[in-house]
Amino acid sequence: MDISYFSQKVNQTLSTINYGDNPAELYDPLRYMMQMGGKRIRPLLTVLAGYLFNDDVEACLKPAAGVEVFHNFTLLHDDVMDKAPLRRGQPTVHEKWDQNIAILSGDVMLVRAYELFLEVEPSKLAKVLRLFSTCAAQVCEGQQLDMNFEKSDLVSIDDYIRMITLKTAVLLGLALELGATLNNASDNNALLLKNFGINIGIAYQLRDDLLDVYGEQEKFGKQVGGDILADKKTYLQLTALAQANVEQRNILTGFRNQTIYSPEQKVAEVTAVYNQLNIKAQTEAKINLFFEEAIQSLDAVEALVERKNILRQLALDLMERES
Ligand code: IPE
Ligand code: IPE
Ligand code: MG
Ligand code: MG
Ligand code: MG
Repeated sequence: MDISYFSQKVNQTLSTINYGDNPAELYDPLRYMMQMGGKRIRPLLTVLAGYLFNDDVEACLKPAAGVEVFHNFTLLHDDVMDKAPLRRGQPTVHEKWDQNIAILSGDVMLVRAYELFLEVEPSKLAKVLRLFSTCAAQVCEGQQLDMNFEKSDLVSIDDYIRMITLKTAVLLGLALELGATLNNASDNNALLLKNFGINIGIAYQLRDDLLDVYGEQEKFGKQVGGDILADKKTYLQLTALAQANVEQRNILTGFRNQTIYSPEQKVAEVTAVYNQLNIKAQTEAKINLFFEEAIQSLDAVEALVERKNILRQLALDLMERES
């Protein structure tokens, strides 16, 4: 069985969900969001984790779709908070419609995600809802820290890792833990997979931060330079701040007090400092550390090596992603 078999199952499940129709202003943005693509990494992780413990992944499909709907809900609201114009190469919902519509269609997406989780076997329902609710609240906590950090000069690398663990990594952890739990893995195996997911998730967000500066907008599908414009405390920014001389530090922080400059100028000047300090290579090294950590957890899972190799390869591909 190769990965395309599982992607197909995930896509098929997602394509049959009935989100609702009326009023159109509520449901059209939801469908727009779900149909504009995306890599579908998280539901794939759920199904692949399930496959480690059972040939039949049927029980994982609806909750896997729930994870993807939840993820898309977080993106919809994230784009409002980040004032992002582009997502997956297309206008964001708040740009195409408006902000109120983005808020409300996001809300109903969260409800639809819960409904997909409701379809798990009754004996597992309470546990699954508990895991999901804990994770969903953590994502909100991470998103709030992400916004708090925009206005703070006291953010450490550890603070940053904690923040991205919450906003991004715990959902990848949940995706894997869910698949394992649904297909009756032992608690220890489920925990190892969760840890694999969290470390992959941290590396995934580091890669996202890197692509936000060094990606090609055509492939990345988001506005390159968006994090610099929003004063996000990314790994790149914090590492540069820690290593900058006085002149470079003035560039990294100076724009906040300066009113007359173009967005292009800010992105170009900050990127130039990153280049001088070799921040790209330093970020790649950090990504590798978390990837190695992740692989140690995967190695320790008691399951067929050929099946674990599908997850290993997927993780490897994610570390090198361009989109
Ligand atoms: C974007 O997630 C937000 C991050 C956590 C980096 P993805 O890069 O998985 O987004 P899609 O779903 O593939 O568009
Ligand atoms: C997003 O982080 C994390 C969540 C959506 C919870 P980003 O703000 O970096 O994600 P993108 O770059 O907009 O996809
Ligand atoms: Mg964003
Ligand atoms: Mg954000
Ligand atoms: Mg980003």
